[in-house]
Amino acid sequence: MSIKATYLSHSGFLIESDDHSVLIDPFLSGNPLAKTKPEAVKCDFIILTHGHGDHLGDGIDIAKNNDATLIAPYELAMYCQWQGVKKVHPMHIGGSFEFPFGKVKLTLALHGSAVLEGNTIIYTGNPCGVVLTLQGKSIYHAGDTGLFYDMKLIGEMNRLDVAFLPIGGNFTMDITDAVKAAEFLKPALAVPMHYNTFDVIKADPQQFVEKCRANGINARVLDIGEAMEL
Ligand code: NI
Ligand code: MN
Repeated sequence: MSIKATYLSHSGFLIESDDHSVLIDPFLSGNPLAKTKPEAVKCDFIILTHGHGDHLGDGIDIAKNNDATLIAPYELAMYCQWQGVKKVHPMHIGGSFEFPFGKVKLTLALHGSAVLEGNTIIYTGNPCGVVLTLQGKSIYHAGDTGLFYDMKLIGEMNRLDVAFLPIGGNFTMDITDAVKAAEFLKPALAVPMHYNTFDVIKADPQQFVEKCRANGINARVLDIGEAMEL
């Protein structure tokens, strides 16, 4: 009875319980840091936080290959269905649902969400974060977001075993803001994500870890391809 979380690079994680595999934000094709091929990923559920290419990523193809259920904010779930994904489960911010693997709650994220096709912007609803509760463990994946004070509420209402937080700046929180986020969330462990994939989101994850520790928060870097037990 343990949970394994594998970092796929950028904001991508594979969460494996005894019976299920849940993939979050699988950006693999066209990702200079990714070591995993989309064809190699096995999962029965996929969670997408928003429609940007570095989060939707290979989600549609992987859902089709695995006949997986794709969970996403309503507009994005509909978009994926129109692209041929058979099993979609739309949700929205503040809503939660019990899936066979555990509970998913979508949370606020301060960001945008769209798919770009040619010169057209296809709006894919609000972006979100996710609180995932499975086998007694709680995981917060912030998606892409700026710092917001309601992270304190997420921390109050969930005893988080781990929080995956973007640190790269420009599109999301930088290290300073992500450390403040960790203070609000009070997770047992904070793990940085969304850095160094592109030039504009360069950040030193070790600096995030040190600043967290200086503020009494346990933190660590997950290397690309590295797995940890929760
Ligand atoms: Ni984004
Ligand atoms: Mn992003």
